[in-house]
Amino acid sequence: MLVTIHSDEKGVADYAYEFVRQKLEGSKNFVMGLASGGTILRLFRKMVDGFAGGELDFSNVHTFNLDEYVGLKPDHPQSYAYFMGEHLFGLVNLKEENIHFLSGVAESVEGHCHHYEKQIKEVGGIDLQILGIGRNGHIGFNEPTSSLASRTRMVTLTQETILDNQRFFPGNEDVPRHALTMGVGTILEAKEVLLLATGPEKSQALASMIEGPVAAVCPASALQMHPRVPVVCDEAAAQRLIYTEHYEKMIDNEKSVEGQFGP
Ligand code: F6R
Repeated sequence: MLVTIHSDEKGVADYAYEFVRQKLEGSKNFVMGLASGGTILRLFRKMVDGFAGGELDFSNVHTFNLDEYVGLKPDHPQSYAYFMGEHLFGLVNLKEENIHFLSGVAESVEGHCHHYEKQIKEVGGIDLQILGIGRNGHIGFNEPTSSLASRTRMVTLTQETILDNQRFFPGNEDVPRHALTMGVGTILEAKEVLLLATGPEKSQALASMIEGPVAAVCPASALQMHPRVPVVCDEAAAQRLIYTEHYEKMIDNEKSVEGQFGP
């Protein structure tokens, strides 16, 4: 993993934006896997601004979202489909036919998940998967003890995740208990994975992911098996890391992010 530690969440979003910008620049057909949630939202805002300012063009970009709550239709304000429409898809020039979601109301869940995996393969696989991380080490909705070889499927959310998500719903009983998610195995097939983590509440999960053993109790630790995983975090999220002398510190713009990412 290539870990860079930044002063704050703005530093994380700036670095991640520059990373994405360089990937999209000049690429003819680019396939992105996307998370939703608070961490990635700051990157989405920068991507929307980048599009408005003429720096980014999404006309040849395909997207696959990681996950969706079971039982929520795309027009439900708490669905991830709605979130993506509000914060990215409705604000940039992505072609509708290039946007892919898991459906929370699919009739045949198994068939739907299988079809999603097939669609990813048909476009040549995911070039860049962008991830957040849960407090419990989940990626997508692969909760602790998910098989590290898991594929796209329906999962049961943990109490911790339900509590974390409660703030977005009127009451606890309104938070869905199940979700569809790309599997850990599916995520590991992406050519590159960019993981973002900010805030002290992610520090334990981040330490387990980077420095802990590869174990299903921290599904994100499976990323240790992937050869291309830039991890972009702030100091608060990095506070429990031990081997910090090995990681890049990019505090207060000491280093420019220009030209950092290679071709
Ligand atoms: C959501 C997803 C989740 C989030 C994670 C962090 O699509 O895949 O794994 O990335 O729960 O969420 P935030 O950024 O809201 O803390």
